[in-house]
This record gives sequence, structure tokens and C-alpha cells, in this order.
Amino acid sequence: MAHKQIIIIGGGVIGLGIGWQLAKAGASVTIYERGEAGRAASWAAAGMLAPLAEAHTEESVLLKLGCESLARYPQWVRELEADAEMSIGYRMEGTLIIGLEPDDTHQLRHLYTAQQDLGLDVEWLSGREAREIEPVLSPRVTAAIHCTTDYQVDNRQMVAALQRAYQACGGVLHENSAVERIVIENRIATSVQTQDGFQAADVVLLSAGCWSAQVDGLSETIRPPIRPVKGQMLALQMEEGIAINSVIRTVRARYPTSVYLVPRTDGRLIVGATSEEMGFDTRLTVGGVFELLRGAWEAVPGIYELPILETWAGLRPGSRDNAPILGETPVENLIYATGHYRNGILLTPITAYEIAKLILTGETSEIIAPFQLDRFSK
Ligand code: GLY
Repeated sequence: MAHKQIIIIGGGVIGLGIGWQLAKAGASVTIYERGEAGRAASWAAAGMLAPLAEAHTEESVLLKLGCESLARYPQWVRELEADAEMSIGYRMEGTLIIGLEPDDTHQLRHLYTAQQDLGLDVEWLSGREAREIEPVLSPRVTAAIHCTTDYQVDNRQMVAALQRAYQACGGVLHENSAVERIVIENRIATSVQTQDGFQAADVVLLSAGCWSAQVDGLSETIRPPIRPVKGQMLALQMEEGIAINSVIRTVRARYPTSVYLVPRTDGRLIVGATSEEMGFDTRLTVGGVFELLRGAWEAVPGIYELPILETWAGLRPGSRDNAPILGETPVENLIYATGHYRNGILLTPITAYEIAKLILTGETSEIIAPFQLDRFSK
């Protein structure tokens, strides 16, 4: 398959990551991106690599996929940084999940028990012990879970690196060039239609995030059930006296929004995120920004004085069960890699390695097999 023509619809981290791996293996790859590459969910994300912090017992196959992807991060970082000749800001300081009042501690205990039942590497801390790790935490912090292996990467640097590595390997990127239709003849995907006409393909890969269901040519049975889930975010500038090294997440039993704070090496502190079913609306709201600032301020009171650098809202691509849709479809030569919801950055390595392998060899690995589209019709 290495010499064949592969068309990728969507140039976020998933499309770029798969494209890079394929182009590196010698395939002829063209990405069509409706906007600018990597400027949608990949750009809006916080870059947390946190399968443990978001673990729930009912999602154990997804947790396994997340842990496996996290395990592949060191190799991914080495390979990508070498090919792109730039850093992607991979940091391994771990994550603290904190509670601020008795109801939160109760919820934290529940999460801790579930994480332990799953055999995860987590540690229960008192408020004092949490403050020993991050002295800026509020004196109100009652308890915390330390997820020592939940890391972070700078997703915006990863976008830049992937674009560079992909193009350096010969990958072709068309920006501001949407695929209007996937052409399917006799249950075989044969080409795509763009503003410049029909482009023939041996394989069509759909990785268009929350726009995946909007591409024409897909019948109802194979249309991926993906919707946008809005997340409002902001970035603060850390200043002297506010040094944070770990990712900090709150559990707030009595508030609508739990927040996370993600410190970047360049001094930015990312604060996120709301979770709203608002279609393609990306407007910031007073309530959304207020909840983020309140949550962040309660966790780390010292942020009160910090300058706000940026505000934005992104759209997570959520599937019907909020797990990604990966692999073959009932249509020959049509592959999906979409619906990564809250875990797109975490799941990029495993998706890129395993979907590239599927396209090159025809082999679906055990780890991605549970995530095929056909699970929705079973
Ligand atoms: N993974 C963080 C978020 O979706 O907000």
C-alpha cells in the first residue's frame, strides 16, 4: 500500500499524525483541510495526557487505549522532535486532582477507589501534602489524588511539529480546501470532490473532527455520529510568586464546572474548560469565563493578580458514546479516525501509529478493534 494515493479529510493532529506516518513510509498522501491545519480542536486543547485523571470504571477499554497511547508518547516525542527539529513541550510533572470541601473529598474518594480497582498508579494526599508539591494551592484544599504518570504536551507546538514533519516527508497539504463529498461506487470509496474537482484515491481517511458528519456522500448507516461539544478556555501569564509545575484539576461536587490549570514552559497557564452542547457556537459567555476564573481562583488564589493573555472556545468532536471511531467501515477503502472528544491529544500517537499500520498492512490491531464504527449498529 506504500505506493498508493491516500486522501485525508481533516488536517488536525489526527490527520497530520496519520499523514506523517504514512508519508514517512513512502505513501503518497494529500490532506484537505477546510480551514488552517491544526487550528480547530487541536489548537484549542490544553494538551493534558491524563487517562488516569479522567478514568471511570465504565470506560475501561477507553482507559486502556489512553494508557497505551500515553506509553507510546516517549517514542512519539523522540520521533516527532527529530523529524520536525523542534520541541513539542512534553512535560512529566504529573497531575494533582484536588478537592476544596467535604463534598469534593467524598467525590475524590470515589474516583480514587475506582482508579485503585483499575490498578492505576495513584496516591492519596492530604491538603498539606498536596501543598508540599504545589505551594501555591489554596489552604482550603482538603485532599488530593496524585496521578504521577498523567503528563502534558504543548498541543500548539505539536501542531507546528506535525505539519513540518508531514511536509518534510513529502506530504501534500491543501488548506482552506474542504472536501465536499466522498464518492462511493459499489460500496467502494474511489475519490473525493473538492473545489478543484474530483481527486481519485486508493484510500480515503475521514479525520475531520466535529465536521466529520457533515461531509456529503455518506449514507445514514455510515455517517459517523459526531457532534461538537464546546469548551471555553483562557490563558493567564504566570508571574513571579506563581510557579506551578504540575497539572492541577479540581473536583467540585457543588459547581457546574470543574477546572484544570496547565502550566506551560513559556509561562502561560492554561485554564479550562466548560463543556456545553451548543452546536457549532464558539462564543465566549460571561457565565463560562466566570466559572473558569472562579474555579481557578479557588484552587490557586494567587492567580487573582495575573494578566489574562487569551480567551477562546473550541469544539470537541464527541461521538454517541464519547469514544473515538477508529478503523474500517462497511465501505471498502474508507477509514475513520475521528470522534476523539476530550482525549484527542492523548490519543494522537496510538491513532497515528495504528491507523497508519491499518492502511499500510490491512491489519486492525486488537487495541483499536473495539472502536470501529460497527459498534453503533450492534
Ligand atoms: N481534555 C480536556 C477537555 O476536553 O476539556
